[in-house]
Amino acid sequence: MARVKLQRFHDNATRPDIIEPGKPEYEQLGGRWRTDFFSNPHPLTLEVGCGKGEYTVGLAQRHPNRNFLGLDIKGERIWRGSSRAAEMGLTNVGFVRMRAEALAAQFGAGELAEIWITFPDPRPRDRDIKRRLTSPRFLALYQQLLTPGGLLHLKTDNEDLFEYTLEVLAARPGTVVERFTRDLYAETDVEFAEAQAIQTNFEGKYRSIGVPIKYVRFRLS
Ligand SMILES: C[S@@+](CC[C@H](N)C(=O)[O-])C[C@H]1O[C@@H](n2cnc3c(N)ncnc32)[C@H](O)[C@@H]1O
Repeated sequence: MARVKLQRFHDNATRPDIIEPGKPEYEQLGGRWRTDFFSNPHPLTLEVGCGKGEYTVGLAQRHPNRNFLGLDIKGERIWRGSSRAAEMGLTNVGFVRMRAEALAAQFGAGELAEIWITFPDPRPRDRDIKRRLTSPRFLALYQQLLTPGGLLHLKTDNEDLFEYTLEVLAARPGTVVERFTRDLYAETDVEFAEAQAIQTNFEGKYRSIGVPIKYVRFRLS
């Protein structure tokens, strides 16, 4: 493994803002993230598949009285988000290295106020439908961890994943789709402002080649 990568993994192991397998807090903070990790009662937002953490860090900067966690399986990407948060002096940000499939072991029921799913892998093959981060099994998981009426947001470049998600939401009783658009940056409604305000690494790449960004905001009940 490259020396830089190894050094970053070593950094992650010593950084208190990163929770990952092998650390004593891993899978022990469920229901206590705000008191034991952030040391405040502020609402907690989770970004699933955060990559280099642009959204997690960007939201934390915009909302100092809220807490933000970025989750990803890739330690090197999390290292970048953690480094940026430290450079900016943010104390309301953390990162968790884990698979989203195991969320229930990491968070307590009703512990999350909001979830952002930013440019998830589209998983186009039929046999991978269950692995899509907006499939019914993931929505059931998110609902369990969100406060009643908690907000969810999806941003994606991928048309098929977006249409799939709208279909899943329409078929799910009690789901309220608040806003959606197939071209986020063509919207002038202030309701889309937060989704337009922060751009992720993948988002930048797709926008630069002219791919419209899709966005949906919804609540599960
Ligand atoms: C296409 S990238 C998007 C990254 C970032 N959100 C962005 O927009 O730049 C998808 C990210 O999701 C992560 N990921 C994919 N499947 C995951 C899973 N099951 N659990 C946690 N992270 C996952 C990948 O490691 C990757 O960083």
